[in-house]
Amino acid sequence: MKWSNKAANTLEWSGEITNREQKEQVASRIAARVKEGDVIGVGSGSTSFLAIQAIGRRMLAEKLNVVAIPTSTEVALACTVLGIPTTTLLNMKPDWCFDGADEVDPDNNLIKGRGGQMFAEKLLISSSPENYILVDESKLVPVLGKKFPVPVEVFPEALHLVENELMALGAAEVRLRLGKGKDGPVVTESGNFILDARFEQIGTDLEKRIKVIPGVIESGLFMGYNVSIVR
Ligand code: A5P
Repeated sequence: MKWSNKAANTLEWSGEITNREQKEQVASRIAARVKEGDVIGVGSGSTSFLAIQAIGRRMLAEKLNVVAIPTSTEVALACTVLGIPTTTLLNMKPDWCFDGADEVDPDNNLIKGRGGQMFAEKLLISSSPENYILVDESKLVPVLGKKFPVPVEVFPEALHLVENELMALGAAEVRLRLGKGKDGPVVTESGNFILDARFEQIGTDLEKRIKVIPGVIESGLFMGYNVSIVR
């Protein structure tokens, strides 16, 4: 039996969706790829949120059976409202996946994590044979780090150590991400904090150098991953 309360039936994004028209177009393009029986990894952010809705519309119109592997609570909730069955990476391997990004450089390196997700997204992209990154023009940058800092998910007790180590790696500024609609720091879905580290220069080895700091869960740098850009 389906729940009849508001939350179970409302698709709501937590704020205004920037560049909505372009994001809707990219969402339709990715929805056109869906085939009967696909297991699709679904990344986080507003573009992914619009894309899963476009997929839901196709599933309804064409009676397609698709299973989603969501990387965030907001996308998992959207799947619930849309009636799209979900599973996890523990149960199934995705046939392909899609996700958004905050910055994309000419070599398809990415900064992600504006919405607080990066750990589950990196697991998904690393598990999936085909990965599509959905972007509007505002995401294309000549060099990473010009618009967004590098988010780093940190085990709470490692906060001070990791901040110091990021500064030692050359960060110009490191800030603990604070919540909106909640006092204190943002707490990720895995119970960690996020440090936003601004770098003047992002070398190809920076992702690995951040990853080896004790207490770092993951960073939002995706350097050299197997991704195709959809715009
Ligand atoms: C989530 O934390 C991010 O990695 C998003 O994928 C990224 O911020 C893209 O967001 P929008 O699709 O909302 O622009």
